[in-house]
Amino acid sequence: MPAVEICPNVYWIGVNDRTTDLFEGIWPISHEGVSYNAYLIDDEKKAILDLAKAFKTDEFFEAIGEIADIGSLDYVVIHHLEPDHSGVLSTLIRIAPKITLLCSEKCKEMLASFYGITENVRAVKDGETISLGKHTLQFFMTPHVHWPETMMTYESENQILFSCDAFGGYGALRGTIFDDQCTDHSFYETEALRYYVNIVAKFSGPVLRAIEKLSGLDVRIIAPSHGLIWRKDPGRIVHLYKTWAGYAGNPGEPGITLMYASMYGNTEKMMNAVAQGISGTGAEIEIFDVARTHVSYILPSLWTKSGVVIGAPTYEGSLFPLMIDVLNMVAVKHIRKKRAAVFGSYGWSGGAQRGLEKRFESLQWELMDQFEFCGAPTAGDIRQGVEFGRKFGEIISGGSAREDA
Ligand code: FEO
Repeated sequence: MPAVEICPNVYWIGVNDRTTDLFEGIWPISHEGVSYNAYLIDDEKKAILDLAKAFKTDEFFEAIGEIADIGSLDYVVIHHLEPDHSGVLSTLIRIAPKITLLCSEKCKEMLASFYGITENVRAVKDGETISLGKHTLQFFMTPHVHWPETMMTYESENQILFSCDAFGGYGALRGTIFDDQCTDHSFYETEALRYYVNIVAKFSGPVLRAIEKLSGLDVRIIAPSHGLIWRKDPGRIVHLYKTWAGYAGNPGEPGITLMYASMYGNTEKMMNAVAQGISGTGAEIEIFDVARTHVSYILPSLWTKSGVVIGAPTYEGSLFPLMIDVLNMVAVKHIRKKRAAVFGSYGWSGGAQRGLEKRFESLQWELMDQFEFCGAPTAGDIRQGVEFGRKFGEIISGGSAREDA
């Protein structure tokens, strides 16, 4: 996309990435894409804020070239060293060797370890300002939103917060960079949540601290490193991030993530019975087959909903391996304080649910109910599954389970 002027002499010079399949080598974005937003302020001193992933170097330099000669740049503000933000840097400093890199003290160390860059690097202090001429930049340290070196920049003339990963999301930009011109907010909000839970959620404490720290600034525009630029309603994305970060400390909204796996259809049959039981209780439910759904898409439901139902068969005396993978990622992402119920089939000796209590204890999940059945579910088993779903649905939705239904 061509460069876009956000405010007088402040330009978006980002690039869309629609070819990377896995963000961070883990998270699918083949269908959604992602943008690497970067910005250029064309003043007496010229500064770039944020960069892009290495394979986008040519396209990124073309965008700069629309506004200014690369050799004329004075500063690059490096908010974050993760290579989706910094990949073009080595090439940039070969072309513009006199450019000064402004970053946090921690980032200075990381520039050396990631890229061997040690010259023309200036660590800025928290709250420090520099004048570009008409535009003044103020730097704020926001460690662990997302990596420890992360910082943000506030441009006071136009009241723009360049927020780095914070307030970002997956989703390549579809022709417009602005929230007020976007006609598909639900796509960007869904992808912002998926990005939040995949990338940022473990750092929810630092996110809340950063929001609090910056709450005294008058922010008219939020310009993150990924996704839409929020100029009509910057409060919307702050509200969403604050809400999502809050789920780190509480079980989330009433609702159920039902995730299951089935080898030959027996656990799936029971899953439908359990879902039927839940459906009468008013509890919101999302259902995922873990063998066919990447965990990236399951995590947002697990993060935001207070209840989890796991349906998985015994596999070689243990829980079905793909369900173990999901629970391992749940532990990595610190998805805690849930209420859970577990069911599944077994062929001869069972074992899927062995050790779950210990796993749940470390997650601070409360195991509310569990049952297993042998082979194909009988009519009695199915009735038990419906009742199991109904009871758990009542618990999650806040109703009382009726024994006579
Ligand atoms: Fe946009 Fe932490 O990478």
